[in-house]
Amino acid sequence: MSLGARPSSSPRPRLLDRFRQFLPLSEATPSLSLGEGATPLIRAERLGLTVGAPNLYLKIEGQNPTGSFKDRGMVVAVAKALESGAKAVVCASTGNTSASAAAYGAAAGLEVIVVLPRGQIALGKLLQALAAGARVVAVDGNFDDALRIVRALAEQGEHPVTLVNSVNPFRLEGQKTAAFEVCEDLGRAPDILAIPVGNAGNISAYWQGFREYADAGLADSTPAMWGFQAAGAAPLVHGRPVERPETVATAIRIGAPASWEKAMAARDESGGRIEAVSDDEILAAYRDLARLAGVFCEPASAASVAGVRKMAAAGALDPDATVVAVITGHGLKDPQTAERQVPGVIEAAPTLGAVAVALGWT
Ligand code: F0G
Repeated sequence: MSLGARPSSSPRPRLLDRFRQFLPLSEATPSLSLGEGATPLIRAERLGLTVGAPNLYLKIEGQNPTGSFKDRGMVVAVAKALESGAKAVVCASTGNTSASAAAYGAAAGLEVIVVLPRGQIALGKLLQALAAGARVVAVDGNFDDALRIVRALAEQGEHPVTLVNSVNPFRLEGQKTAAFEVCEDLGRAPDILAIPVGNAGNISAYWQGFREYADAGLADSTPAMWGFQAAGAAPLVHGRPVERPETVATAIRIGAPASWEKAMAARDESGGRIEAVSDDEILAAYRDLARLAGVFCEPASAASVAGVRKMAAAGALDPDATVVAVITGHGLKDPQTAERQVPGVIEAAPTLGAVAVALGWT
């Protein structure tokens, strides 16, 4: 019996190796990977027609190892922390950063400390951090309070600990690699990159990535950056911090983004925009992503598609434009929101007849 030819595909590339020329790595940087990056860019035709963006693509960042885009930056930040001899890392988080820090810290053998706003973290994310052995401290305050605390923790000298929030420059260096992949998969830069905005690190990282790719002569253009915040947590839209941010999209429930200036520069330099979308608009896009594109994401991720729909309805989107919406995190992260958005299970006795009746077939 012949075994036949082996499939010709190459092994899954490691993010640190694949984009080495663009990353601040040295010979001494340890190799680290949980299989991050190389996420799919899919054409979402049915969804695109429904929202008024016929050439809509989705960059599915929920397919990273811990289910969000954070893994791209975390692998670089944790590798560099190891290189510098760190024994512990710390972060504040609305959930995904902590899940990612906990996983990469566990793989690297580092102690991980997480400070979270109490009661405001989606269940899946909290469990990810705890399962990976992170020490999780919940404070009565919001994300902005937690970030203030961990910045101070990283500055005190008694218990040395490296900050791995996106104010750590290695995080943005890693996250920018998603922009390279978008250009590689499309064969060009998109016209518009639509992205949810919370602490504003990711929009800043994508913009850096698109610029570097064009500067290297690998793309002819850069996209307009379209950032979308939740209406109850939209400091960049209002031009001032929001003291009590509120939104169903807990991942982007942030009132004082750390990368404020960088995000504004991304908007202005790219000829883009930063707008607000309501919770209802976010949840409508969240349901449509699953039902019309087969992509189950968390609510914050749907802000990108909600924003595209809103701009299209306002006549601000050229229907010929190639639009990439970044889908930042997986739907299973937040089962409690999902449960409130889906129809109920149909119950029936265990017989063909009863199931047929339940389905309305007879
Ligand atoms: N989407 C998801 C799923 C997120 O978790 C976040 C941020 C964003 C979008 C916004 O990205 O902050 O770079 O503008 N989550 C952070 C966290 C704040 O702690 O997990 P951003």
